[in-house]
Amino acid sequence: MRRVVCPGSFDPVTNGHIDIIRRVARQNEEVIVAVLVNVNKKGLFTADEKLDMLREATKEFDNVTVAKFDGLLVDFCRANDVSAIVRSLRSVSDFDYELQIAQMNYQLAGVDTLFLTANPKYSFLSSSLVREIAQYNGDVSALVPPYVEERLRVKYAELAARRVGRRRGLR
Ligand code: PNS
Repeated sequence: MRRVVCPGSFDPVTNGHIDIIRRVARQNEEVIVAVLVNVNKKGLFTADEKLDMLREATKEFDNVTVAKFDGLLVDFCRANDVSAIVRSLRSVSDFDYELQIAQMNYQLAGVDTLFLTANPKYSFLSSSLVREIAQYNGDVSALVPPYVEERLRVKYAELAARRVGRRRGLR
């Protein structure tokens, strides 16, 4: 059984991620999309919210499952019998960063990393840009699935309401 992992922060999942997951699922028997639970970095969405959006985004793919992990990715690979890590490259600067991590993961545990070049349609796309656009009520409908677009709208509305509540509490 050839099982690979697509790891990431997915804060939130974008159409670029989904394009990669679709292509990886075509090439492999089993794909785990693994969300990093980062204790050092507070994201916009919780790990469970990210999982929920990923499940919705990947529900059409029979051989894709979604999981979360903390700690080292190579430990997750060992524990889940994963034969390779798959990462996407949008640019040369992605490659500079990814090469170092891939070599370190190979050094740590002999786990290979396979690279897929991003669909040119999405080479400009990142979760951080999506967050920034959504924060200022920009149109992200071409960048994320409708379900994620709605979750972003709700999240920023909640954050805005909380800010107003805090300001009122100060008066
Ligand atoms: O979506 P991202 O933020 O580019 O994903 C980065 C991720 C989650 C793949 C990477 O940070 C990771 O694997 N973190 C887990 C800790 C780890 O194993 N680090 C590598 C040590 S060489």
